[in-house]
Amino acid sequence: MDNRSTFATKLGVIAAAVGSAVGLGNIWRFPYELGQNGGGAFLIIYLLCVIVLGIPLIVAEFIIGRSSSSNVGGAFKKLAPGTHWNVIGYMSVLASFLILGFYAVTAGWTVEYLFQALKNGFAGRSPEELRDAFTSFSTTTYTPIIWLFIFLLANYFIIVGGVKNGIEKASNIMMPILFVLLIIFCIRSITLPGASEGLSFLFKPDFSKVNSSVLLRAMGQAFFSLSLGMGCLITYGSYFDRKTKLGKTAFTVASLDTLVAILAGIMIFPAVFSFGISPAAGPELVFVTVPNVFMQMTGGYIWSVLFFLLLTMAALTSTVSMFEVVTAFIHEEYNVSRKKATIWIISLTFILGTICSLSLGPWKEQTIFGLTIFDLFDYVSANILLPGGGLLISIYVGYRLDRTIMINELTNDHSFRIWYFKPLIFAIRYIAPVAIILIFLSGLGVI
Ligand code: PHE
Repeated sequence: MDNRSTFATKLGVIAAAVGSAVGLGNIWRFPYELGQNGGGAFLIIYLLCVIVLGIPLIVAEFIIGRSSSSNVGGAFKKLAPGTHWNVIGYMSVLASFLILGFYAVTAGWTVEYLFQALKNGFAGRSPEELRDAFTSFSTTTYTPIIWLFIFLLANYFIIVGGVKNGIEKASNIMMPILFVLLIIFCIRSITLPGASEGLSFLFKPDFSKVNSSVLLRAMGQAFFSLSLGMGCLITYGSYFDRKTKLGKTAFTVASLDTLVAILAGIMIFPAVFSFGISPAAGPELVFVTVPNVFMQMTGGYIWSVLFFLLLTMAALTSTVSMFEVVTAFIHEEYNVSRKKATIWIISLTFILGTICSLSLGPWKEQTIFGLTIFDLFDYVSANILLPGGGLLISIYVGYRLDRTIMINELTNDHSFRIWYFKPLIFAIRYIAPVAIILIFLSGLGVI
């Protein structure tokens, strides 16, 4: 709170925010959600959600964060003292833990796959063998938990290192490389035999597949992928200096995040069709198709190593941002040292992650609402908590936050003019809350 850090450079701001947004959500979750929810039609609804809800709400979170220069709890204490708005802070902490629970397990899988790639473990395996290998690995008791632990340890060192030297530096290096590699993988994928079938699955909308659950899932995916509705962008916004342009940054983050999701789709679906894997395969999709693609490529060994290294890093810059939400909150609100806070939070995540991991294997029969705990955490966080958080944030910024604060934040204290103030306010006040409530009600079967 006394001399709080900020990101050091413009590039650092973008890289850290894009680092949070771009992660397993884009490369692992987006393709299988799209595959299970109607293909091209899902993509169009997803894009609408990003433009109409996503960008305005990213700006709203940035405004809260930078104007208060506080964590998710402190922000509302400062901006709205004596009110209940700080419930957004508690919801954010809860959402962070639920997401971290299953996300860190998946990130652990990517570390295992990196290890497999290094050992050249995919070589000579058929698609069926790769699928079986994934199923048996992800449902065993111990191995995934060990990788979970190792992955969490990496998070520990970055978080304890701090904002500038940990988060910003890592993102500056990894994000550009990720883009270049994705483009190369896409080129390889679309030149596979039968690729056009995959591309038309991705880009040709079939609206007969759209129902209210598809709407809810597309919205949930947009929130999840943009790291929206759980205070992550409030926390990162609180590390922006007064020169950072909030509107432009929000637009850049949303565009790059969406580009990566689409590139991931272009990388995955032609390969899915080319190898005869079901596009609705679920969470295993990436872990089965990507090794398949590599085995068709010259230099497949090095590509697969690079891919899983980068996937691990993409996951890491995202989990770090979730940990930062809770770490900043505990550190600043409860006066606990950063290190102690981090140890507690990572330990709790390890327990939740272990439960999620076991729920796929030995505890598979124990379901809640028909979902394993892994799937339940995923469903509840993405489709309920994040849009719910986004709803509260849009109401707070749209109806309660002082307009002068908004204008000062959007124009960096009147140092430049913006053209989009009116449409932005309109989106935050009316479009976002109405759309979220309608999609909620229809997704939950009320209308
Ligand atoms: N946006 C991240 C991804 O796509 C996940 C995430 C969600 C990160 C919420 C932070 C907060 O992988």
